[in-house]
Amino acid sequence: MSGHFLGIDVGGSSIKYGVVDVASGALIGELAAVPTPSPAVPEALTGAVAAIVAGTHTDMPVGVALPSVVRHGTIFTAANLDASLIGFAMEPALRRLTGRTLVCLNDADAAGLAEMRFGAGRGQGGVVLMLTFGTGIGSALFMDGHLVPNTELGHLLLRGADAEHWASARVRAEQGLDWQAWALRVTEYLDRIHSLFWPELLVLGGGVSEEFTHFGPLLRARSAVKPAMLGAAAGVVGAALAVAEVRR
Ligand code: BGC
Repeated sequence: MSGHFLGIDVGGSSIKYGVVDVASGALIGELAAVPTPSPAVPEALTGAVAAIVAGTHTDMPVGVALPSVVRHGTIFTAANLDASLIGFAMEPALRRLTGRTLVCLNDADAAGLAEMRFGAGRGQGGVVLMLTFGTGIGSALFMDGHLVPNTELGHLLLRGADAEHWASARVRAEQGLDWQAWALRVTEYLDRIHSLFWPELLVLGGGVSEEFTHFGPLLRARSAVKPAMLGAAAGVVGAALAVAEVRR
């Protein structure tokens, strides 16, 4: 796989984007960002993505990662975006608006594709689970490098509520949890995950993975745990990989 593709990663508060060399996973230039429109309703969000695409001044294909279940280009969930997106056919709308070859996928799935190809999951067979800790908790499940899309393990019930309402990086910041207190919560979550999936490797991503040295040694997990390696760019790199894959 080779060439340059535009990756866009829509988050609850910002939309990150960059041009990716899919042979190496490297960004060509800066990882840029604009605020996510609020409320993130279909027209505002498609407009913001189309403006980014127009700004690249080429006919480069585009991958768009979204914090949602995305099947056949349609959005099925919107836990951290506006609920009016549910049922919206995002991919055809963006193709029409931009005139580009374009695919949409879940953000954690995108980050996982990037980590499996270039980062912490590289060369790892068997069951690998990537978890992203940010506004929510995202998950990407791989079997021998093949993605099982749209696992939503941030919504696993833990203590009677969605796990992401108890152990996401946002909750850590909002509740002022120290690393020890947060690591206890993550350990309990990983334990649940382990009982259900028995992964050989857990890759922990999201912005907080850059602080792995603070919380990693405090975690107790029954499988190998590695921090993600691509940091904040993982979703952008993975979105570009996803569209490069359909272009092959
Ligand atoms: C969403 C997932 C997403 C994750 C990380 C969750 O709230 O349901 O689709 O991958 O947040 O953004």
